[in-house]
Amino acid sequence: MEEKKEKIKISEVYSEAMNDIKSVFGLDKLQELKVKYLAKKSIIMTLLSGLGALPPEERKEAGQELNQTRNNIAKLIEQKESELRKEELEKKLKKEEIDITLPSRNVDVGGVNPFYVVKDEITDIFLNMGFEVADGPEVETDLFNFELLNIPKDHPARDMQDTFYISENVLLRTHTSPVQAHTMQAAEGKPIRIICPGKTYRRDDDDATHSHQFAQIEGLVIDKNINIGHLKATLELFVKKMFGEKREIRLRPSYFPFTEPSVEVDITCANCNGKGCSMCKGTGYIEILGGGMVHPNVLKMNGYDPDVYSGFAFGIGIERVAILRYGIDDIRKFYQNDVRFLHQYKKKA
Ligand code: PHE
Repeated sequence: MEEKKEKIKISEVYSEAMNDIKSVFGLDKLQELKVKYLAKKSIIMTLLSGLGALPPEERKEAGQELNQTRNNIAKLIEQKESELRKEELEKKLKKEEIDITLPSRNVDVGGVNPFYVVKDEITDIFLNMGFEVADGPEVETDLFNFELLNIPKDHPARDMQDTFYISENVLLRTHTSPVQAHTMQAAEGKPIRIICPGKTYRRDDDDATHSHQFAQIEGLVIDKNINIGHLKATLELFVKKMFGEKREIRLRPSYFPFTEPSVEVDITCANCNGKGCSMCKGTGYIEILGGGMVHPNVLKMNGYDPDVYSGFAFGIGIERVAILRYGIDDIRKFYQNDVRFLHQYKKKA
């Protein structure tokens, strides 16, 4: 009799639990059911702890049944819990939908320093004319920076090109012209058409127009029958591509030890179109680069017969072109990384 009564009780507890769990809403209500059916004071747990009072032959069966029921209820609760959690997450995700029509926060995109914009533009212009880009070391020997360019020791031209010396014969190059000598020696008598953009150094007091470090683009063409007309045509094309079709050039006689004849190249002032203004100091022209026909001594020293070969060379100051192009008033601004400066020229670049 006793046993029968208990059995009915257990199966009733189980079906009640099943119904409760099935119809429960919300995780906190489920937590309450967990307490009701599985906590220490729940019916099942109370019956379990009362097993000891049963006669030994009944204890085993009753114990198994109680444990089974408890495990089943625990499993049902677990299933329901994961179901409810899923539902809750879905609800939350729906509520938190992102509104993609809202304007995004402003992301500040950097710009290219106008120095590099101009350097790349100059390079492109010459690449389109069939030049190749050559390279050379910034730490040079006295031999390549001076001697092989027809500037022997004690030559007065060295005064204008004082620099940083690493040792007596090793220095930071004062111009990109040593790349002329390197290229000629490597080409071993074959025709040459190169440009070389690169950093150069001089002992200068830094001010609005001088910097101890600046940059040049060297140009060198060597072949049979090269004359100064080729130099002029090349530079004219460069100036028109860089500064616009309206710009004219003027060659003025000048002096460099490694070119003969040597020229200084001016362009008509963009501000006044050649009439004369404060920007060009009333002359109508602004100087932009130096060049000339490669000196026979330089050809000879670097492996070319000046009776067979001739050539022209030029050196363009990159900052100078950028300053003219953008109307920048201080060379130091290129190197200071002031974002206000970089922003100012971002659009134009
Ligand atoms: N190297 C010269 C300078 O720095 C420029 C130059 C290059 C002149 C090539 C003539 C030929 O002033």
